[in-house]
Amino acid sequence: RHVAVLLGGLSSEREVSLVSGAACADALERLGAKVSRVDAGRDLAQVLSRLNPDVCFNALHGSWGEDGCVQGVLETLGLPYTHSGVLASALAMDKTRAKAVLAAAGVTVPGGGLYDRREAAAGHVLPPPYVIKPNAEGSSVGVFIVEAGANSPPEAIAAEDWALGDQVLVEPYIPGLELAVGVMDGRAMTVTEIVPAGGFYDYDAKYAEGGSTHVLPARISPAANARAMRMAEAAHAALGCTGVTRSDLRYDDVNDILVLLEVNTQPGMTPTSLVPEQAAAMGVAFDQLVLWMTEDAHA
Ligand code: DAL
Ligand code: MG
Repeated sequence: RHVAVLLGGLSSEREVSLVSGAACADALERLGAKVSRVDAGRDLAQVLSRLNPDVCFNALHGSWGEDGCVQGVLETLGLPYTHSGVLASALAMDKTRAKAVLAAAGVTVPGGGLYDRREAAAGHVLPPPYVIKPNAEGSSVGVFIVEAGANSPPEAIAAEDWALGDQVLVEPYIPGLELAVGVMDGRAMTVTEIVPAGGFYDYDAKYAEGGSTHVLPARISPAANARAMRMAEAAHAALGCTGVTRSDLRYDDVNDILVLLEVNTQPGMTPTSLVPEQAAAMGVAFDQLVLWMTEDAHA
């Protein structure tokens, strides 16, 4: 079978995608597939028309590759592709609209809302501590935690060269643990507890050597563990996701409250990423995970 692995792309998560894509392409080659590595640019439709692969493995992250646009191109070309379809991808990428759908489905999500970034920079729009993030980015790009006692919001969000959207999402900071739950074929795999070395699970904590440690299964009660798994499954279903997703949650362990922050429809696929690590813990090696995802591709 000829698999086109889409990687790189046009988003702020390009570098992460190059690593995810290389890992998946290497796995497919080990499995004996014919692989074309396609750095997804504006000429994607022409390149794929020429290659005419049997299936596309979408290893893109962030805007365009994760938000339904590339999925729409693949639908238009009639090529089967991995992960979620157009609507689920677009919905999950828009954190605010996803929250509305998740809340309607009974999944607990953070409060707060969208603000003009200059308004959010002019003064506290919520009592600190709170989190400011772009509405539609990944990998913690452009995320700020405003700590209790902070005098003012970060100046960066008012900067002339801020390129992450004029509306920013401002949410109360949820104390406690950072959890991640991968969902494969509609079923939660396990719960990972993320312990960032620097206190905040930011871009460096995600991708630098030693930036964070992962504990799986998470050191929470069996009841909380089961609830986190059910929440991730409910969120995956509510947004209409397919294939593999990863939900990110906060667990306020003092008050026993689980809050689902977001569903990632194109979770990181480096060999040390959370989803491959969870699959391995479930007895599914990286190559088998990539094979399953490729066979699960849909048109
Ligand atoms: N946005 C990164 C790749 C993730 O969710 O894993
Ligand atoms: Mg994300």
